[in-house]
Amino acid sequence: MAVQISPSILSADFARLAEAAAAVPNADWLHVDVMDNHFVPNLTLGLPVVESLLKATSTPLDCHLMIEDPDRWAPAYAEAGAGSVTIHAEAAKAPVRTLRQIRAAGARAGLALNPATPVEPYEDLLGEIDMLLLMTVEPGFGGQKFLDVVLPKLRRARALVDSHGGQVWLQVDGGVSAETIERCAEAGADVFVAGSAVYGAEDPARAIEELRTLAEKKS
Ligand code: DX5
Ligand code: ZN
Repeated sequence: MAVQISPSILSADFARLAEAAAAVPNADWLHVDVMDNHFVPNLTLGLPVVESLLKATSTPLDCHLMIEDPDRWAPAYAEAGAGSVTIHAEAAKAPVRTLRQIRAAGARAGLALNPATPVEPYEDLLGEIDMLLLMTVEPGFGGQKFLDVVLPKLRRARALVDSHGGQVWLQVDGGVSAETIERCAEAGADVFVAGSAVYGAEDPARAIEELRTLAEKKS
């Protein structure tokens, strides 16, 4: 699978989201962090903002739901037109049903795991998902330090995905930068979320190309 970069608008100016999308025409996705102040100790945006953003950009939206009741909310993001909707394994009470509803609404279905959540219990769900997201920080905030402790799990996740045919994308999110992206690519990630490393750069589009080149060298 070719390397894909998904810049996180969490690090952009929330009053200028359309401009933030336009600043990265070379992004494969726009990563949208939905936080509810319950699953994580931070509050960001929800469905109305996603609906507006869908009208403002043709870049597909990669919605990462860090919310307590994803079973209730996730299908609506897919129905609204998000290209990908990711729910957290720690929060979902009926993940199989919810993942199937996401797919039925025409979006790619993602399952996210926090740093301390093991991947092995979810092996049987690989057929239900299009992407597995391994958090490389504790979710909730941009600009945190990359957690190397997740790298062995990333390698095990790559082996599991490959043993099931290799179609599931493997995404990393948190602390991904020019310093850390090569480690992630080497361990088997193919979709890279980067917030501060892209929107904190003087030229966000150029930052994406630099990240892409580094990841491609190691994948
Ligand atoms: C954190 C979010 C991330 C965040 C990443 O909980 O899920 O998507 O925006 O930001 P950086 O790349 O700055 O760590
Ligand atoms: Zn995220």
